[in-house]
Amino acid sequence: MVNGLRDDLPVVEVREAEFGSAEQLASIELRRRVLRWPLGLDFAAEQLAAEDFEFHLVGVLDSVVVACLVLTPLESGRIKMRQVAVEPELQGRGFGAELVRFSEVFARELGFSRMVLNARDTAVAFYLKLEYEIEGEPFVEVSIPHRRMVKGL
Ligand SMILES: CC(C)(COP(=O)(O)OP(=O)(O)OC[C@H]1O[C@@H](n2cnc3c(N)ncnc32)[C@H](O)[C@@H]1OP(=O)(O)O)[C@@H](O)C(=O)NCCC(=O)NCCS
Repeated sequence: MVNGLRDDLPVVEVREAEFGSAEQLASIELRRRVLRWPLGLDFAAEQLAAEDFEFHLVGVLDSVVVACLVLTPLESGRIKMRQVAVEPELQGRGFGAELVRFSEVFARELGFSRMVLNARDTAVAFYLKLEYEIEGEPFVEVSIPHRRMVKGL
């Protein structure tokens, strides 16, 4: 065991992907498959083009993007985590937690002090384990119930 991980499990390598790079484009495909298509939705070209001011983090395994998230800078030291997705057949192996933890350090080093996110109801328990707290009342986004969650960095 190293850092609580079993030695025989692969370790995902997390890094920033430059906007427009092959890894960032691969992350869009992952987001489509994991977050959009199951809801009968897709991204509009303008929506994706507007993401150039955001930070794109990817988890890479054997040169393949298997996890991703987007960080959107907000005002007052806050930054929003969104579009968190892990390749379906690789979920439950710690990759999502690894990615979120990396993003927290990444955001803190950029000077942000508070991470905020809108969690799908089905993912609230995942964020609670990572010490996020629920704030406010449930609401609906992309047709499904969500909770707002926050964590000091
Ligand atoms: C939610 C998601 C990002 C989690 O990533 P993951 O790699 O599967 O999760 P991890 O293996 O890192 O899990 C870390 C811990 O959270 C738990 N966990 C993960 N997903 C969970 C869920 N949906 N509900 C309850 N617990 C969950 C794990 O059991 C694990 O617990 P442990 O530390 O006690 O072993 C991933 O499953 C996913 O992409 N889901 C579909 C898309 C989605 O819902 N994205 C989030 C939108 S807000």
